[in-house]
Amino acid sequence: MLMTDMKENISTYGPVDDQAASLRAGQPAGRILSSAITGTRCITIASGKGGVGKTFVSVNLGLALARTGAKVLVFDADLGLANADIQMGVDPEYTIQDVIYGNCSIGDAIVQVDKNLSLLASSSGSVEMVEIGSARRQMFVEDLVRAASAYDYLLIDVAAGIGPNISSFVNASSELLVVLANEPTSIMDAYSLLKLAYKATPSSSIMTVMNMVVSIDEGEALSQRLAGITKRFLGVEFPCAGIVVFDHMVGNSIRARNPIVRYAPGTGPAQCIRELAAATIRKGGMSSAVRGINPEMFERLADMGSAGTGGNG
Ligand SMILES: Nc1ncnc2c1ncn2[C@@H]1O[C@H](COP(=O)(O)OP(=O)(O)OP(=O)(O)O)[C@@H](O)[C@H]1O
Ligand SMILES: [Mg+2]
Repeated sequence: MLMTDMKENISTYGPVDDQAASLRAGQPAGRILSSAITGTRCITIASGKGGVGKTFVSVNLGLALARTGAKVLVFDADLGLANADIQMGVDPEYTIQDVIYGNCSIGDAIVQVDKNLSLLASSSGSVEMVEIGSARRQMFVEDLVRAASAYDYLLIDVAAGIGPNISSFVNASSELLVVLANEPTSIMDAYSLLKLAYKATPSSSIMTVMNMVVSIDEGEALSQRLAGITKRFLGVEFPCAGIVVFDHMVGNSIRARNPIVRYAPGTGPAQCIRELAAATIRKGGMSSAVRGINPEMFERLADMGSAGTGGNG
């Protein structure tokens, strides 16, 4: 199962130009990828509508997982409005743009946030990403896959939206968490994203997170409502991975640049995030969940960056 997927991944790796090929002489990309990604769970955190808490979930889920002893790398892939570093309270000296332009190694760009938790940051407004040649991008992909292999989890915080590239993005990781809030636009956009993701990769693990709900009951009702819609129109219900309640302390924690799990561990949202982490770990027992990383996604980062946020919120 894993090997088949690896082969698919490698076959979508795209043409390699002469420069990249010579740089990798004696180092076949396929071997690097297949040996590197088997042990790392790659979870993309996305949403249809913007501003529903993707970064908040990525940062705090990352910290909650790290506190169970897992090694976690959060990758800020929102090239338009990168801000995971702000929510984490770190000031990275380098970003993925520096890695891609050869200013530093990927190791230099990965900053430690907490015990077992690291961040690979991005720079905001990096529209020039689209100018990167395929050789550089592919080298970056290889660097990232190699770096990620040292972690148990790679959490990818992506830009909002359901643009044409999202299916490639979603395709890239075997697990997708779609975050939504209880507002008609958020539900509609979450449905559109779920539909795209499901059609692109029906075998992936696709789950939802209800955020900013007043109560767990409201979250459950929202989850059932969404399940009703997807059942009716797609013939499938996506499991709810977690419900996170609204609390003004989240705003305070973001202003303090300190994740709520650390800033106010006794609050409702922090508790909810810990439960989300526990559910995430439990699902790790299912072998179908682990499918590795598809390098094609990272090829698409440039396109995502060039389209601003790609979001519609
Ligand atoms: N559970 C919550 N309770 C209260 N406020 C919340 C909660 N979750 C998120 N927020 C608020 O929502 C705002 C947006 O969160 P965040 O930046 O994580 O969203 P996002 O989906 O990553 O946005 P973007 O689409 O711009 O990347 C935050 O400033 C935060 O204050
Ligand atoms: Mg965000």
